[in-house]
Amino acid sequence: MEPALPIAEVTVDQWAVRPTGVAELDRVLAGGLVPGSVTLLGGEPGIGKSTLLLQAASSLAASGARVLYVSAEESRPQVRLRAKRLGALEANVWLASEPALPAVVAQVAEVDPDVLVIDSVQTMHDPAIASAPGSVSQVRDCAHQLVQLAKQRSMATVLVGHVTKDGGLAGPRVLEHVVDTVLSFEGERHHALRLLRALKHRFGATGQLGLFEMGDAGLLSVSDPGQLFLGDRCSGVPGSVVVPTVDGQRALLVEVQALLVESNIPTPRRSAQGVDAGRLNLLLAVLERRLGLKASSHEVYALAVGGVRVAEPGADLGLALAVASALGDWAVADDMVVVGEVGLAGELRQVSQTPRRLTEAARLGFRRALVPASVTAAVRGIELTPVSSLREAVAVARTMTSKSGAAEHPPRPPPAGT
Ligand code: TYD
Ligand code: MG
Repeated sequence: MEPALPIAEVTVDQWAVRPTGVAELDRVLAGGLVPGSVTLLGGEPGIGKSTLLLQAASSLAASGARVLYVSAEESRPQVRLRAKRLGALEANVWLASEPALPAVVAQVAEVDPDVLVIDSVQTMHDPAIASAPGSVSQVRDCAHQLVQLAKQRSMATVLVGHVTKDGGLAGPRVLEHVVDTVLSFEGERHHALRLLRALKHRFGATGQLGLFEMGDAGLLSVSDPGQLFLGDRCSGVPGSVVVPTVDGQRALLVEVQALLVESNIPTPRRSAQGVDAGRLNLLLAVLERRLGLKASSHEVYALAVGGVRVAEPGADLGLALAVASALGDWAVADDMVVVGEVGLAGELRQVSQTPRRLTEAARLGFRRALVPASVTAAVRGIELTPVSSLREAVAVARTMTSKSGAAEHPPRPPPAGT
C-alpha cells in the first residue's frame, strides 16, 4: 500500500505529450495525446470527426508514430479513398474495419500502435456480452475494455462517439466518467466553421477553444480567427454591430445583425440564429419599457454572422444596439465595438475578460468601444466611451454614426496584423 503523503510532498512526474500535429487539436489537448490516455471525441454525425482523426492519424504517423485506425463504420477502401483526398496517405497508418472487440484487441497486439483510433465506439461490440450491438451496456463494456488496454500498453486511444443534437443518444454520455478527456466537435452543418472544445481534460485546462474550417481538403486549423467573421461585412448598414466575445480563453470578434420588418399579424415573427432567443426577447422588452422603442408590431430577425453561436451576456448591448439601430434606421460606427450586459432596468454591467476582448478589437483595427461605465481598463489603441444605461448607449451610438445612405462611411478596419 502506498502511504498517504502531505500534498506538498507529492512528486509530480510530468507526463509525456505526443503532439498530433493538428494545431488546433493540440491547442485543445494542451499539447497533444498522452500515452495510455483515452479521449472521447463526441459530435453529431457528419460534423467531421472521422475527417479530423484521419488527418491527426496521418500527421502523427508522419512524425514517427504508429497509428491503428479501426473504422467500424466505413470499409477500408472507403477510408483509403478519403485519406487520399485529404492528402493523408501515410504508410504508418494501419487500417482495420472491424466491429468485434476481441478482433480489435488481436489487431492491436499485431500492429503494436502508439495511437489507437476507434471510429466509432457505438459500432463496437463484444460477442461475450448478451445485449445487442449498439446498446448502452455493449458500448460501456467495450469502452471499459479499451480503457484497460490503453493503460496496459501505454497506448493513446481516441474513441469516436456520435451525439445527436438533443444529446439524446445514451452512448457517449455514459462514457464521460470512464475516459480521461472528453472533446466536443460542433458546428452548423451549412457553415464551414467547426469548433472543438474540451469538456473534461485530466491533463490540462478545459478552457481552450479550437477552430477549424471544413473545406475541400478537409479541416484547416484556424490559428488567427481575426477576420473570420468580419471578412464580408458591409459598412454603414443599420442593424449591424461588432461584438468582441470570448469563448474559453479566446477572443472572437463577431458581427451581430438585426433586421426589423413591419408586420400586420398580431404576433409577428421573432427569429434568432446564433444568438439566444430568450435574451433577444428580454432585450426587446427592455428596449420597449425603458426606452420606448417598440418593436412589437415588427418581425424581428437577429443573427450572429458566420455560423458561430454567441450566447453570452456580453453580447447583450451589441444585440440591443443592433435592434435599436435597425428600428431607427441609423448605423453604428464601423470602427466601434460594443460590449456589456444589459439588466432589466436598462442598466449596463461589465462582463468578464473585458480587457482581453478590447485588446483583440484594437488588434483588428477597431478604434472605439462602447462599454459599461464600470469598465476602467485602458487598452492601447482603443478609445473607450463609457455609458451607464442602454438609453445612454443608444443616444451616444446614434451621434457617433453617419445616417444610413450618407455618402461618406468610416473606413473599414484594416486586415489582421496591422
Ligand atoms: P465526417 O468526418 O465523415 O463526419 P463524422 O465522422 O463526424 O460523421 O465528415 C463528413 C462531412 O464532412 C461530409 O458531409 C462531407 C464533409 N467533408 C468536406 O466538406 N470536406 C472533406 O474534405 C471531407 C473529408 C468531408
Ligand atoms: Mg465518421
